[in-house]
Amino acid sequence: MCGIVGYVGHRRALDVVVEALRRMEYRGYDSAGIAILDGQGGLAVERKAGRLSNLEAELDEIGEEHFTGTAGMGHTRWATHGRPTDRNAHPHRDASGKVAVVHNGIIENFAPLREELEKSGVELASDTDTEVAVHLVARAYEEGPTAGNFVDSARSVLRRLEGAFTLVFAHADHPGTIVAARRSTPLVVGVGDGEMFIASDVAAFIEFTREAVELGQDQVVVITEDSYTVTDFDGNSEVDTRPFTIDWDLAAAEKGGHDYFMLKEIEEQPAAVADTLRGHFVDGRIVLDEQRLSDQELRDIDKVFVVACGSSYHSGLVAKYAIEHWTRLPVEVELASEFRYRDPVLDRSTLVVAISQSGETADTLEAVRHAKDQKARVLAVCNTNGAQIPREADAVLYTRTGPEIGVASTKAFLAQMAANYLVGLALAQARGTKYPDEVAREYQDLAAMPEKIAELLTGMDPVRALARELSDSPAVLFLGRHVGYPVALEGALKLKELAYMHAEGFAAGELKHGPIALIEDGLPVIVVMPSPKGRAVLHSKLLSNIREIQARGAVTVVIAEEGDETVRPFADHLFEIPSAPSLLQPLLSTVPLQVFAAEVAQSRGYDVDKPRNLAKSVTVE
Ligand code: F6R
Repeated sequence: MCGIVGYVGHRRALDVVVEALRRMEYRGYDSAGIAILDGQGGLAVERKAGRLSNLEAELDEIGEEHFTGTAGMGHTRWATHGRPTDRNAHPHRDASGKVAVVHNGIIENFAPLREELEKSGVELASDTDTEVAVHLVARAYEEGPTAGNFVDSARSVLRRLEGAFTLVFAHADHPGTIVAARRSTPLVVGVGDGEMFIASDVAAFIEFTREAVELGQDQVVVITEDSYTVTDFDGNSEVDTRPFTIDWDLAAAEKGGHDYFMLKEIEEQPAAVADTLRGHFVDGRIVLDEQRLSDQELRDIDKVFVVACGSSYHSGLVAKYAIEHWTRLPVEVELASEFRYRDPVLDRSTLVVAISQSGETADTLEAVRHAKDQKARVLAVCNTNGAQIPREADAVLYTRTGPEIGVASTKAFLAQMAANYLVGLALAQARGTKYPDEVAREYQDLAAMPEKIAELLTGMDPVRALARELSDSPAVLFLGRHVGYPVALEGALKLKELAYMHAEGFAAGELKHGPIALIEDGLPVIVVMPSPKGRAVLHSKLLSNIREIQARGAVTVVIAEEGDETVRPFADHLFEIPSAPSLLQPLLSTVPLQVFAAEVAQSRGYDVDKPRNLAKSVTVE
C-alpha cells in the first residue's frame, strides 16, 4: 500500500521526507520517490524502483545540495497500474517540471482523462493512472477560470476524478504550500510548531508532533508552515474534521495502535475487500484487470481448475460453490502441490485460476507452468504486483489489500474470496449464464459486504473473551457445510498455525462417518451455520449435528446469522454475524474465527505475527 508524506516547515525537507518514508516502510512498497521545493521556483524530483536504500544511494550520488528547501513530499509506491519501475515511480511531473503529484489509490476514470490529454498534445511519461492528475492541474493553472490559482486548480481537477485516492500536489511557484486531498484512502494532518505535515499515517510524523487531524471523505487540505485549511472539493470550509492527540509510541503507530500487524490486518479487512472490488464494475459490467482474458476466451472455457496452497486454497474452495452456481461450469479445486503430479486433464478450453497472496509460492508457480505447458489459460489472483505468478499467467486479477505482514493470511484471504467472486461473475457475464441485471445484483450484494464486515468487527469482544476461556483446551474441532466447510477448514488452520493447538475442520455431513468419535466431554466444537433462509435444508441438518455433539458433551460454539433463533437452545456460545447471501457468507463467518485464533495464541503467549516454523512466502516445494 502506498505511503505518502508532505511537509512545509523550518527543517530540511529532504531529511523529514526520507525519514517519514522509512517509518512507513512497513506498509510495503516497490519503489520510492521525493520532490523538494527549493523556494526559488525549483522543484527537484528523484525516484527509484526497489528499496528506499536505492533512492538514498541515488540521492547521495547526485549530492544532497541539490535538494535544499523546507517543503516537499515523498512516496512509497505499491504498484497497481504499471509495473514497479523507475518511470512509474512517484512523484510524477507535468511537462514544465513545475507541478508534481504523489498518489495512493486508483483513479478509475484515468483512461478517458488520458485520452483527453493525449488528444490535446500532452505526452504522458508513465503507465500509471496517477500521471493524468498532474497534467490536468498544470493545465488548469495555465488556462481557464482557475489560471494562476494553484489550490483552485487542484480542486477543479479533484472534482473530475473518480475512484479512491489520496493525492498530494506541489507547485514550484508556490513553495510554501502543499495541497492534498482524500477520497476513501487515508490522509492525516500533523500539526507542529511552525511546521505542518500530511501523511498516510501518523508514523510518518510522530517524531515531530503528536497533534493530528483526521480528515473526512472528499476533503482537501492546504498546508503552509503555520496553517492548515480544510475544505471540500468545491472549496466550502464547513466540513467535519477530527483533531486528536496521538497516544501511541512509534512502534505502535506503525501497527496502527495494535500489538501485532495481524490484528491490524484483521481490522483492515473491510477496506481490503472494498479496494479489491473497486473499479471492477463499470457501466453495469464486471471488468477484470488490465491484463485480462477476452470475453471470447472466457466463453470458450468448458472447465475450471483452481490451484493454490493453504488459506489461498481455502478461498478457492469457496470459489467453487460460487463459480459453479453462477456459470454452470465444472470447477475442481486442487492443492497446487498435488496438481501437476497427477496428470490433470487440461487443454485450451480449461481455465486455471491460480490464487496466491505472495505470487511466489513455489508449488502454485509450478502448477501455473504445468497448466501453461498443457495450453490451458491461466488467470492469477494475486496480491503482489509484478510477482512471478502474475508475470507468467495469461491474465491477473489483483487483490488490493496492501502488504500483509502477519505471516498468517487474514485480509488477503478475504480479498481473495472477493476477487474469486469477481472471476465467477465475469465468467457468468461472458457466457451469458446470468442476465446483466442478475450480475449487477450479485455485484451489489458483494459491494455491500465491506460494511457488514466492519459492523461485525465492532462486536468481537465476546469472541476474544471466549478464546481466553478456551485457551487451555487440548483441541478444537470446526464443522461447516456448503461454503461453511472451507470456512471451518480455514478456522482450524488459523488455530493450528497461530496457537499451535490441535484443530481440525470437517464437513458436518461427515461427522457420523468418523469424526464424531473424537467428541468427548468439554471438547469445544465451533460450528459455522448456514443461513436459515438461504439454505434451510442444510440449516436443519446442521442443527441436528449440533444436537448430536452437544448430547455427547461437546461445548458448542455457534457462528450463526443474526436473528437465527432456532440455534440458540443448542449453542453454549452463540456469535451472530450480519445477514448476507449464502454464497457470500464466508466473508463474514471467517472473521470471528480469525479473531478467536489470534486471541487464543496471545493468551498462550505466542507472537501472532511470526508463528514458529512458518514463512510468509513459501518459495521452495
Ligand atoms: C495461512 C497462510 C498460508 C498461505 C499459503 C499460500 O495463514 O498464510 O497457508 O495461504 O502459504 O501462500 P500464497 O497465497 O502466498 O501462495
